[in-house]
Amino acid sequence: MPTESGSGYNRENRDFPEAIGGIVSVPVRQPLFVRSPARLATGPVHVWRFGAGDELSDAEHAAAAKFLNEPARDAFVAGRSGIRRAAAIYTGLDPSELMVSTSAAGKPYFENADLHFNVSHSGGVVVAAFSGSPVGIDIEVPGRCRDVVEIARRFFHPDEAERCSCEDEFLRLWTAKEAMLKLAGTGLSGGIADARPGVDGRGEVGGRGVWIQRFRVGSCVGAVASFERFEVKGWFQI
Ligand SMILES: CC(C)(COP(=O)(O)OP(=O)(O)OC[C@H]1O[C@@H](n2cnc3c(N)ncnc32)[C@H](O)[C@@H]1OP(=O)(O)O)[C@@H](O)C(=O)NCCC(=O)NCCS
Repeated sequence: MPTESGSGYNRENRDFPEAIGGIVSVPVRQPLFVRSPARLATGPVHVWRFGAGDELSDAEHAAAAKFLNEPARDAFVAGRSGIRRAAAIYTGLDPSELMVSTSAAGKPYFENADLHFNVSHSGGVVVAAFSGSPVGIDIEVPGRCRDVVEIARRFFHPDEAERCSCEDEFLRLWTAKEAMLKLAGTGLSGGIADARPGVDGRGEVGGRGVWIQRFRVGSCVGAVASFERFEVKGWFQI
């Protein structure tokens, strides 16, 4: 029986678990986390990996139909369906009862649940972070950036660019920055240079202090960010 700490949570290597895929399988509507938003409010973050699903609102079905690129549509559907299925477990609501709106800058949020989340997809992998306070998550699959040293030189602070001698270093920095900007809700319009992750799991975005945890999922490099000091207390999939 999975618990909040998540069986399979890798305590030896918790800043960088090898994978969250295949760790815990939770059936839809299992009332495992009912009442847990209160516990989530005190700092923990849960990270979920989503498979395919079809619990979309009419507006989301319409949005999905407009995608020309099939993998992008599948990722959108898996993400939107996944947040409903996971939030149903946290709240006890039916997936169809959860109302999702989007901020002016594009950050989705629940209108009728006191639960924060953020979604990221890359290379066919779809994840989301859930927390009692605002949260940001980003994953990137390696092998898509040709000249990481040049990108880092152009867009990163010189101190950061100096740390980017290979793609893995670059992606660790990039995902931390994107997770921070998605936490702040600005997305990339907030300016990739404005997000300044440190080397110690701390950072700053828009003048505010941020805590960051890095991880790997499948072949992707990832990062979660919160304004609160936090630990990822569970890695789950649905
Ligand atoms: C949001 C953004 C950072 C996503 O980066 P990405 O690496 O391409 O994509 P990811 O898979 O990590 O994240 C995408 C998810 O982030 C979420 N998201 C979108 N805008 C967001 C924002 N401003 N803040 C936080 N999260 C956001 C969504 O859930 C989105 O997935 P979905 O559309 O399938 O629901 C980037 O697209 C961006 O900044 N865009 C500019 C802002 C923009 O275009 N806004 C449009 C509305 S005006």
